[in-house]
Amino acid sequence: MKERLEALRAEALQELQQVAGQQQLNDLRVKYLGKKGALTEILRGMGGLSAEERPIIGQVGNEVRAAIESVIEEKQEAYRQEETAARLREETIDVTLPGQALPAGAVHPLNKVVQEIEDIFVGLGYSVAEGPEVETDFFNFEALNLPKNHPARDMQDSFYITEDILMRTQTSPVQIRTMKAMNGKSPVKIICPGKVYRRDDDDATHSFQFNQIEGLVVGPNIRMSDLKGTLLQFVQLMFGKQAQIRLRPSFFPFTEPSAEVDVTCSQCGGHGCRMCKQTGWLEILGCGMVHPRVLEMGGYDPNEVSAFAFGMGVERIALLKYGIDDIRHFYTNDQRFLNQFARM
Ligand code: DAH
Repeated sequence: MKERLEALRAEALQELQQVAGQQQLNDLRVKYLGKKGALTEILRGMGGLSAEERPIIGQVGNEVRAAIESVIEEKQEAYRQEETAARLREETIDVTLPGQALPAGAVHPLNKVVQEIEDIFVGLGYSVAEGPEVETDFFNFEALNLPKNHPARDMQDSFYITEDILMRTQTSPVQIRTMKAMNGKSPVKIICPGKVYRRDDDDATHSFQFNQIEGLVVGPNIRMSDLKGTLLQFVQLMFGKQAQIRLRPSFFPFTEPSAEVDVTCSQCGGHGCRMCKQTGWLEILGCGMVHPRVLEMGGYDPNEVSAFAFGMGVERIALLKYGIDDIRHFYTNDQRFLNQFARM
C-alpha cells in the first residue's frame, strides 16, 4: 500500500508539472484529492491493515496529500498572479493620450459688451434697472417731453401695436419708470441695458432691433461737469487710458442742454483714418442735463434736484471696440464670427 501511495505521489507531481491552465489544475485536484479521487480510493483499503501498519500508512497518506496540495497551491498562486498582472495590463490608462475636446459655449459679443459696461458703472456705484420692451406711448415719448405730433418723433420711426402701445424705440422710458418708482427720493444712479425697436431697413449700420444702454443720475447739484467726468471715466475704462472725449452741442427733447459725445478713434488713435472719416473722432452716445419738464413728469421738483442722462447703442460700441464693419454679423450667429470672441 505504501508503494501505491508513493507511486501516486510521483504520478500526481509529474502530471502537475505539466499542468496547463486553471481548468486542468482543478481537474487534477479532483482526480487526486477529490472525494472519489485516487488518494481516497487507496486509503479506503486501510480497513484491512493491521493495527501497527495503520498509523504508518496513515502518515504516508497524509504526507502524499500534503505534497500534492502544496504543489496545487503553488500553481494556483502562480495563476492568480498571472491573472492580476493581465488585468493590470488591460486596465492601464495612457495618461499621455489627448483629452476629448468638449465644445464649450461662449458669451455673445454683444452681451459681453453689455456686461463690461455694466461692470464699469456698477463699479461707479450705479444699479442696473430694467423696463418693458412693449411700452406705452406715454413712457416712450410723452413723459420724455415728446408730446403727440412733436416733430422729433419722426427721428424714431416706431412699431405701433395700438395707438397707445408700441415697441419701445429707446431705453429712455426706463428713466421715467425709475424716477416714478423712487417717489421723489434721490439720489438715483442707474443704467438700463435693453433691446429697442425701430422701423429701419437693415443694413451694415442699421437694424430694426438693437440694444441700448441708458444712464440716469438724479440728485441735488448734479452738473454738466459731473456728466462729462463720468463719461470720460467710462470711455477710458472701456477703450483705454489714452481715449479722450469731446462733446458737441446737439438736441434731444428730454435734455437741455444736450450733447453728442465722440471718443478718440480707436483705430488710428485720433490721427484720422477711414473708420473715423479722417476726423480722429467716433460718435458713441447722446447725453444732456435732464429737461426740467421730464424731472417733473418723473415726480421731482426741478428746483431741488437736477439730473444728467445718457444713452448709447451697444452695437455701435461693440463695432468700434472690436473693429467690426457690419452690424449684421451680430445677428446671423455664424460660429466662425462668434468663436473669435470665445476666448477674449
Ligand atoms: N434715447 C436717445 C436715442 O435713442 C439717446 C439718448 C440721448 C438718451 C440723450 C439719453 C440722452 O438719455 O440724455 O437716440
